[in-house]
Parts: sequence; C-alpha cells; structure tokens
Amino acid sequence: MSGIPNHISIIMDGNGRWAQQRNKERIHGHYEGAESVRACIEYAVEIGLPYLSLFAFSEENWGRPQSEVDELMSLMSKSILQELPTFQKYNIRLIVIGNRNHLEPKLLQEIDRAMELTRDNGRLTLIVFLSYSGKWDIEQAAIRFAEAGSPEGKFETFLSTYGIPDPDLLIRTSGEQRLSNYLLWQCAYTEFYFTDTLWPDFRKKEFGTAIEAFATRKRRFGKTSEQIITQQNDSNED
Ligand code: FPP
Repeated sequence: MSGIPNHISIIMDGNGRWAQQRNKERIHGHYEGAESVRACIEYAVEIGLPYLSLFAFSEENWGRPQSEVDELMSLMSKSILQELPTFQKYNIRLIVIGNRNHLEPKLLQEIDRAMELTRDNGRLTLIVFLSYSGKWDIEQAAIRFAEAGSPEGKFETFLSTYGIPDPDLLIRTSGEQRLSNYLLWQCAYTEFYFTDTLWPDFRKKEFGTAIEAFATRKRRFGKTSEQIITQQNDSNED
C-alpha cells in the first residue's frame, strides 16, 4: 500500500448507537468496539504503520453514568492484560496518555507495567488516550512550562505527547464531524477523515478506505504547491 501516513489517530465513536440499534446495553457496543481496536491494530502492523493512536476515554466521559464508566474502565484493564502477549509477539509498544488523577491505582499499575514491558518494542507504537482532553494537556503544559522559566521555543516539549509525531490523519467514526477536545494542539496540520460507519463496524476494510482517501490529499502546510514540490525534489536528492 502506498502513501501510508506516519501517524493515524482515531476518535472511536458510535459504540452506544451500535448497541442501541440492536436493543442491547451500551456496554455491548464497547465490547464490540474493542474487537475493532484489535482489527485496526492488526491492520496497522500488517501495513507497517509506525504510530496508531486511539481516543479511548475523554476527561468529559467521567460524567457518564457511573455503571458505564466502571464497565469501560474494567474493559480497559481487561484489554491491556489480555493483549499484552500480542503486543510482545508483534513488537508493539504501548503508551497510555491522559490525566492520571482520576484513574484507579490498580489500573495505573497495569498500565505502567504494560508500558514498561513494551518500551523497547519498535514495530508499531500504539498510543491510548485515556482520561485525556486537549485543553487539559495544554493547561498542564503551560503550568510546567512556567515553572521551568518559560524556555523560549520549548513549549511543545511540555505537552503529554512530546516525542510522538503529530497525527497525519485523524479518523472519526459515526458521522460526527468535530474534534471534541481531542488533540487540539497536535492536529494543527492533520488531515481529517469522517465516516458514517459506527466504531464497532469499523474494521480492516474501512481502515484501508480511510488510508486510500488520505493518499489523495495534497498537504501544503501553509506553503504553495510549488514550494512543496521543490522541497520534495530536494529531499529526494539528499
Ligand atoms: C464512543 O462511543 C466510545 C467510547 C467512549 C469508548 C471507546 C472504548 C472502546 C472502543 C473500548 C476498547 C478500547 C481500548 C483501547 C481497549 P459512544 O459510547 O460515545 O457512542 P455513542 O456516541 O453512539 O453513544
């Protein structure tokens, strides 16, 4: 496959509606959504994608009914424990990013253990955003930046994603077309792809279609097409 981005990020949306359409509890949608997560990770490995990130739980999601929050946290914990051998087998590094203050100590322990055990894996970096919001990220970065004496040109190094390249492609499922307080800073030049497919139905085929759509996009990063062509020619000569 040509034109594979370096980093694809996904806002996994529509689990609840998927369940509702089948007269099932919302959690069934989340469980089926976890299967889509597996399929997309598998596909990412197959095509050699370097970075895949997933918006698994926002800071705002803490406001959902407690029973759903508990079930989602238990699904996260179960998924991490269950998938750890797969991460090791396929050389996948797991990074979990978000506001740790609300997360249960047991889940934090499991997350830290999985991150430590997979830290040297280099085939795919899988980033799970958990208890994350873009405004929280910018705010915590601003506080730490000020504490460090506001070193010029270094603001970005205080963001929770420092070291991870910005997403080239952001996919959002379920027909919603907004960023919902996700990677506000990091999506400055990201290409967006929206699909009506609900997350539990988003599998390899849909993922492939999104990547094909990305390959047709012309990215100029605020420059002219001519400048981009010159830049590409220069880097081909290097
Ligand atoms: C949005 O659908 C989905 C979530 C808030 C949770 C996403 C979590 C998973 C897919 C579980 C597995 C994740 C990992 C990383 C193992 P929604 O509930 O907002 O759907 P709705 O808009 O139809 O109500």
